Amino acid sequence: MDKVKVFAPATVANVGSGFDILGFALEAPGDIVEMKKTQQKGIVISEMISEKSLSCVIEENTAGMALVNMYSSRDLSFGIELKITKGVNPGSGTGSSAASAAGAVFAFNQLLDDVDKFSDKELVDFAMDGEVVASGARHADNVAPSVLGGFTLVRQNDPLDVIQIPTPSELYVVVLHPEIEVKTSDSRAILKKQIQLSDAVKQWGNVAGLVAGLFTDDYDLIGRSMEDFAVVPTRSLLIPMYDQLKEKAIENGALGLSISGSGPSVFALCKGLESAESVKKVLVETIEQTNLLYNIHISKVSTEGCKVI
Ligand code: HSE
Repeated sequence: MDKVKVFAPATVANVGSGFDILGFALEAPGDIVEMKKTQQKGIVISEMISEKSLSCVIEENTAGMALVNMYSSRDLSFGIELKITKGVNPGSGTGSSAASAAGAVFAFNQLLDDVDKFSDKELVDFAMDGEVVASGARHADNVAPSVLGGFTLVRQNDPLDVIQIPTPSELYVVVLHPEIEVKTSDSRAILKKQIQLSDAVKQWGNVAGLVAGLFTDDYDLIGRSMEDFAVVPTRSLLIPMYDQLKEKAIENGALGLSISGSGPSVFALCKGLESAESVKKVLVETIEQTNLLYNIHISKVSTEGCKVI
C-alpha cells in the first residue's frame, strides 16, 4: 500500500471522575489523515486544512511529533507525506490534538509491511508523544479511545497499560462547546497539586463505580459515579453557567454532566437518543442565556476507533 486515508474520532477524556485515565470515542466528528509514501526519507506535513491556523512544522504539530519516534524505530527506505483535514475543533476539549496524532500513527501503520507493523497499544504509546505538543503532558486518555474506540482505561502511563472497557449500547452523549478559549496547558496549570484523602476516597469509589457500571450496563451507576472531586471544582469556574448546565441536564434525564477533557466543552451522558434530545434542548435554553457563541451535537459513544476510509 502506497497511500491511505484514515478517519480518527474525537474523544471525551476524563469522563467525570477519571482524570487522565478514562476516555471514550465519539461517532463524530473526527479528523481525516491522508498519507502517502515518498522517495525522499523523512516526514513532511504538506497540508493542514483547519478553521484555526495550525503549524505544519513537525516539532510543533501533534501528528508530526507522534510520528517521529515511530518513523525512526524502523529502518525504512521511504519517507511519508501527510495532509490533515481537521474535523475536531482545536481548543474545544474533545481531543483535537489527539485525533490528529492517533490518525497519523494509525495511517502510518497501514503503510508498513506486516513484519514492521506495530500493535494497537504501541500506536497509542506513539500517539502520546503528540499530546506533549498540545498540553505539555504525556497523557493517553484521548489518544487511547481515538485509536482503539469505545471506552478505555489507562491504568498506567509508563510503561503504558491500556484496558478496553465495554460500551453500553444505549449510551449517547450530548457535547456542548461554548466558544471560549481554554488551553489544555493552562487548564492543567491551574489544578491543585494535592487533594484531601477524604476526597481521594470518594474519587476512587467513583472511578471504580463508573468502570463497574460500564461492565454491567448499569446506567444509573454510571451516572452517579461521574462526580469528580479532583479537577472539576477548579476547572468548572472557567466555564460559564457550568452549575446551571449540570443541574438542568440532570433534572431532564441526563445520567450526568461533566467537563469534556480540559474544557471548555461539557458533555452529558444519556440513556437513549430520546433522552439525549431532551437534554440537548435544555442545554441550548441554558447556554442561550449567555451571549456566547456555541455549538452542540449528539453522538453515540462509538465502539470504533481509527479506521481506513
Ligand atoms: N486528561 C486531560 C486533562 C485531557 O484533563 O487535562 C486533556 O484533553
